[in-house]
Amino acid sequence: MTEKVFTLLTEAQITKRVNALAEEIAADLGPEPHVVGLFKGAFVFAADLIRAMHRHGVEPTMDFMHISSYGDGTESSGQVELNIDCRDNLEGRQVLVVDDILDSGNSLTFAVEHLKKKGAERVTTCVLMDKPSRRTLPIKADYIGFQVPNLFVVGYGMDYAERYRELPYIASIRK
Ligand code: IMP
Ligand code: MG
Repeated sequence: MTEKVFTLLTEAQITKRVNALAEEIAADLGPEPHVVGLFKGAFVFAADLIRAMHRHGVEPTMDFMHISSYGDGTESSGQVELNIDCRDNLEGRQVLVVDDILDSGNSLTFAVEHLKKKGAERVTTCVLMDKPSRRTLPIKADYIGFQVPNLFVVGYGMDYAERYRELPYIASIRK
């Protein structure tokens, strides 16, 4: 490990924000939204978010998709690949896509279009971290945990070359 790791957001800060997001989502999306988490980065966030949604009276169904636009580096390749698809029939469902980070926008744009094609009545988006300065496609998330400047962040499910996903807090790394 040659990178320097700096704590950016503590467990307590994350918990508080996730709860507030769940409250907002519960008020907007009704009692039975279909949550689609994007592997792998969003798996910790999605797990906490659905339990926070439960505390606000929501009974979501849950699925995952794995799409990738990243290699082992820190730059988006611009090319999105669908590695694992979620279930097909989303007719009439309120779908909430959950991702870890909105960066260039390639992944989330692809996911939204893909879920609309599966018949979702409405697709809304929730991201834990937003890096608006990095956007190359015109997409905004409906629910945003934290806006961050152009830092590379890890922990709470997010990785750098598959490392650091296990951190219970969010850190930034510098080489
Ligand atoms: P986008 O397609 O460029 O918006 O990239 C989104 C995906 O890139 C996210 O779902 C993350 O998996 C990954 N990503 C972007 N920035 C970071 C970061 O700072 N740390 C870890 N993963 C990141
Ligand atoms: Mg991702």
